[in-house]
Amino acid sequence: MEGRPVCDSSVVMTEMVLPTHTNSLDSVFGGVIMSWIDICAAISAQRHSSRPVVTASIDALDFHRPAYKGWVITLKSCVNFVAHSSMEVGVSVEAEHLVKKQKYKIASAYLTFVALDDHGKPTTAPPVIPQTDIEKRRYAEAQRRRELRLKHRR
Ligand SMILES: CC(C)(COP(=O)(O)OP(=O)(O)OC[C@H]1O[C@@H](n2cnc3c(N)ncnc32)[C@H](O)[C@@H]1OP(=O)(O)O)[C@@H](O)C(=O)NCCC(=O)NCCS
Repeated sequence: MEGRPVCDSSVVMTEMVLPTHTNSLDSVFGGVIMSWIDICAAISAQRHSSRPVVTASIDALDFHRPAYKGWVITLKSCVNFVAHSSMEVGVSVEAEHLVKKQKYKIASAYLTFVALDDHGKPTTAPPVIPQTDIEKRRYAEAQRRRELRLKHRR
């Protein structure tokens, strides 16, 4: 199967924090961010594999800083590594105050998606081709994380 470059799976998703997304402190619920992360990453996995995908797992998710009502949230994702049917997708999340021109990273996560065939069974996804130094580093790190996940599941 022909490989595809990492950049083909790149996704940028922008959201605004609305009152329905916030808690009593006016900061965004972690679950809302998690949902956006899952959607953004799923689009990357589907864009890469051209197949329906399911989320198999989400690695530890750390929230570094809060984001508040009215702030703009930008999520960026791409496929880091493909084993056979599974793909690791990395997502980074930034919050931005458009008036104060403040911007900082609020979260990042690694998710594993599995490509499915027409019967809903795991099927091979195309290899991913890392091209830049950053993509090559992420590929190698993702490969190590897969080994750890397999060890953990065993
Ligand atoms: C993920 C799922 C398709 C795996 O199916 P399975 O029959 O266990 O398949 P296999 O054991 O053959 O594994 C298939 C691939 O999934 C990977 N995988 C399975 N469970 C995993 C997990 N918990 N974390 C990461 N990868 C996982 C395997 O490593 C394998 O990868 P590879 O083909 O690249 O080597 C199945 O467990 C499932 O459908 N889970 C529910 C998914 C879901 O509903 N998600 C939420 C909504 S999208």
